[in-house]
Amino acid sequence: MAEPRSHHDRIIYLDHAASSFPKAPGVAEAVASALVTSGGNPGRGAHALALEAARLVHAARRDLAELLGVPDARDLSFQAGCTAGLNLALLGLIRPGDRVVVSSMEHNSVVRPLHALSDAGVEVVVVDADDAGAVDPDAVEAIVRQAPTRAVVVQHASNVSGTIQPIGDLADIAHSAGARLIVDGAQAGGHLDVDLSTLGADAWACSGHKGLLGPQGTGVLYLAPDLDLPPLVRGGTGSVSELPAMPIERPDRYEAGTPNVPGIAGLGAAARFLKANGEELRAEEQRLIRLLHEGLLGLGFRVLGPEPGIPRVPLISAVHPALDADRIAFELDRGYGIAVRAGLHCAPWAHRTLGTLETGAVRFGVGYGVDQEQIAETLRALETIVAGVPS
Ligand code: ALA
Repeated sequence: MAEPRSHHDRIIYLDHAASSFPKAPGVAEAVASALVTSGGNPGRGAHALALEAARLVHAARRDLAELLGVPDARDLSFQAGCTAGLNLALLGLIRPGDRVVVSSMEHNSVVRPLHALSDAGVEVVVVDADDAGAVDPDAVEAIVRQAPTRAVVVQHASNVSGTIQPIGDLADIAHSAGARLIVDGAQAGGHLDVDLSTLGADAWACSGHKGLLGPQGTGVLYLAPDLDLPPLVRGGTGSVSELPAMPIERPDRYEAGTPNVPGIAGLGAAARFLKANGEELRAEEQRLIRLLHEGLLGLGFRVLGPEPGIPRVPLISAVHPALDADRIAFELDRGYGIAVRAGLHCAPWAHRTLGTLETGAVRFGVGYGVDQEQIAETLRALETIVAGVPS
């Protein structure tokens, strides 16, 4: 297979929080195989290729459900990404006149749909997270008790600070107030040991292409069995075609149109890899993130998010007092072939909460394929870049 393109002879890829690379072993082969050997349309016909495509989608759904602790795989629908899943949940559940409570750490995938809902007459109450990006369940409880609330909306883990939110506590609080808990799991899937049977989320959306190590253009949405939302997209499902209304059966209800079979097949292969190797991979990610954290502090960076030793998903954003985040990212790329992401990470609210709305930050996201030598090389490159700043 061809090598990735870079200005250098190799890449150190530390942008897993944006999209994982490389993908899990078996993903590319599964995508190619879906294109080459089973090109039919799943659920739309009874010929061999249509059945083979249906089998691929079924197997991928089963493997993802097992990985994520979903007792009934039909509660997991395939989506075009986490954003698509979140839009389905938010726009399906929340109506004009409703009140929702949302954390100040949210990504634009939540902020923008809520902005549109706010324009349509939804009251959106923002709970400020603390300086480390953590949401205080007591603060949420105080707000949901003030007035009837339709939903609490929160990230499982921040794409800026890596902070892991207390989802179980927030679920208890939301439920005791008669509200639903909608969770943006984009940075959690694959990087945390997610068990949706006990987590407490009523809706949990995740990208397929980040920690789940699958192809871009894939994602999943879990909806609790008792949460019946209208679909966001309506059309052919290959089932009850005589009816003008969408089927009530899951997952068809939420999967109108021909699905992304190659992408789903790849995501299924990634889920099988994570079932076998996820625990080991997560332990290594935590080792790497500790090394990065200590190294960045030693180089005079301000590291956003939890203190060293407190669990976080494997990403670190940092700010240097004398160097622009964009410049650091540019020099790492051009000078060293090290890929990171600088700026606001599509999460201006989170940066405002962390005090970095004006500066942005440079983010290092680790994951599958990153090793300790790459982290050491990155820290050496940063040391050289920082040493070049006139004092
Ligand atoms: N949401 C992705 C990120 O944080 C793209 O980079």
